[in-house]
Amino acid sequence: MSGKNGSVKLVAGNSNPALARDIADWLRMPLTKASVRRFADMEIFVEIQENVRGSDVFIIQSTSFPTNDHLMELLIITDALRRASARRITAVIPYFGYARQDRKAGPRTPISAKLVANLITHAGADRVMTLDLHAGQIQGFFDIPTDNLYASPVMVRDIKDRFDLSKVAVVSPDVGGVVRARGLAKRINAPLAIIDKRRERAGESEVMNVIGDVEGYTCILIDDIVDSGGTLVNAADALLANGAKDVYAYITHGVLSGGACARINASKLKELVITDSIQPTDAVCNAANIRTLSIASLIADAIGRTASEESVSSLFD
Ligand code: R5P
Repeated sequence: MSGKNGSVKLVAGNSNPALARDIADWLRMPLTKASVRRFADMEIFVEIQENVRGSDVFIIQSTSFPTNDHLMELLIITDALRRASARRITAVIPYFGYARQDRKAGPRTPISAKLVANLITHAGADRVMTLDLHAGQIQGFFDIPTDNLYASPVMVRDIKDRFDLSKVAVVSPDVGGVVRARGLAKRINAPLAIIDKRRERAGESEVMNVIGDVEGYTCILIDDIVDSGGTLVNAADALLANGAKDVYAYITHGVLSGGACARINASKLKELVITDSIQPTDAVCNAANIRTLSIASLIADAIGRTASEESVSSLFD
C-alpha cells in the first residue's frame, strides 16, 4: 500500500499482536518485519528488519498491562523508526494507559497522562491515533495532531442487531460519563439515565441514585473502561433495584484487572461487551458473560484515510 506520504508500513509492538494482524489483513498488507525482544536483564531491544526510509509508518501498540513495558516498547520502536529515517511516524494506541491520571487529583500528585504524552512526542511520533480517550481533553496534552476515534459505530451496529430498541434505555454509570452515553443514546434514539453516586457523610457507604426512568427497560451501561468491574456490578444492582428488566454493558477498554472476570461472572449483568483494544486474556475468553467486538476494521479505515490524507472524522458521521 502506498499513501500520499510514501510507502505505508505497519509495525506491531507486543501488546496486541492479534489486533495488529487483523488490521494488517483489513488493509491487505503485511506487518513490517521487526524484532522487539528483551535482553537478559529485561531491557527492550528493537530491530526494524526492513527499509523504512521515507515511509509513512504506523506503530500499533496499546499501553495496556504491563503498562510500563508496553509504553517503553512504543517509545523505543518510535526511536528506532526515527533513526531509520521514516518520513512520518503515527503512534496508533488503541488503549491509552495512564489516561485516568489526567489532572492533579490532590496536592503533590502528578499529571501522568501529560508526562506520557510528552514522552511519546519527544521519542519522535509525528501523530497519535487513539480510541475513546478517558477524557477528550487529553488530546490537548499533545502538541502534534491527535485523532481520538470512537468505538460507538461498532457498538451501535451490534446493539441494533441484538435488541428491540423500543425497550432499551442507555445508562451512564457515573456523572463523568454522561457525554459518552448521551452520544450513543442519540444514535439509537433511546432514553438516557444516569447513576449518581453519593456519599452523604464521611464513613457512610455510597448511595447509588438512578436519575431517569429505567422501570421495565433493558438497560445498556456505556463506559470507556472496565477495570475492577466494581462500577459496573454496583450499577447493575442499582438499576435492577429500580425496576430495570435486565442489564447489559458496552465498554470500550476491557482492562479487567485482578479478579474482575470472576466478579462480572458472578454479577447480575446479563452480558459485558468489550472491544479488542486490549488483547483479551484467557480469563476474558473463558468468561461466560463477556463478549469481544473487534475494532480492527475501524482502525484500519482510519489508518488508510490518514495515509491518503482523507477525512477521519467522516468515519463517525
Ligand atoms: C472512571 O471514570 C472510568 O470511566 C470507569 O468507570 C472506571 O475506570 C471503572 O473502574 P472499575 O471497573 O474499577 O470500577
